[in-house]
Amino acid sequence: MNILDVLRKAATPSKEVRYPYALFDPTERKEVPGIIKFAKLKSTDVFMDLGCGDGRLLIEAARQSNCRCIGIDVNGKLVRKAIRNVKNAGLAKKISIRSGNIFECDISEATVWYTFLYHWMPHLIPILNKYPKRRIITNSWRFSSQGIEIEPIRRYEDFYEYRTPLPELFLHTPTNHYNGNMGITRKEIKRMMSDD
Ligand SMILES: C[S@@+](CC[C@H](N)C(=O)[O-])C[C@H]1O[C@@H](n2cnc3c(N)ncnc32)[C@H](O)[C@@H]1O
Repeated sequence: MNILDVLRKAATPSKEVRYPYALFDPTERKEVPGIIKFAKLKSTDVFMDLGCGDGRLLIEAARQSNCRCIGIDVNGKLVRKAIRNVKNAGLAKKISIRSGNIFECDISEATVWYTFLYHWMPHLIPILNKYPKRRIITNSWRFSSQGIEIEPIRRYEDFYEYRTPLPELFLHTPTNHYNGNMGITRKEIKRMMSDD
């Protein structure tokens, strides 16, 4: 390979798909009971935290409403911590924790999702819209589509509730949108999931 080939290779964006990834920055403990109250969960609901961290939202949801809860996280350490926390809370029958990338997992069981995924949230829209008439609660970040903010149906402090289907102006083309400096590759996901 000559110097021109090396430069050409360096200038060509990688074709590898990158998936949205937000670092663990948990919802503040003091805010958790209020958010779950705001979510108005019924015992027949299935509450799913997309990127569940240590499982704190799920534990409060199961305590307040006795509904079934599911948490998904890509970080193996957090998955194990969430499983421990759920067990210690005596809620293992109500809450299941799964390891995985929320952009590739089955999220269809939920009637209400929760997410705290920063600016990556628009990427969720096409996935959520596969399941109409379901609710999603977001922390701090609002949904937007092509830079236009989508009006939530309810608001409590810095938490927002939406209902599917959400407006979908956002073009879901993973290679364009995920191919920035941020986000994680399939290889990194694999490593993170098996992290000790
Ligand atoms: C800001 S934290 C929120 C944690 C928890 N939901 C809470 O509110 O306390 C984001 C979480 O999402 C997880 N996460 C980020 N990207 C993910 C992805 N693509 N698939 C699954 N989990 C992801 C991170 O490991 C982290 O635990």
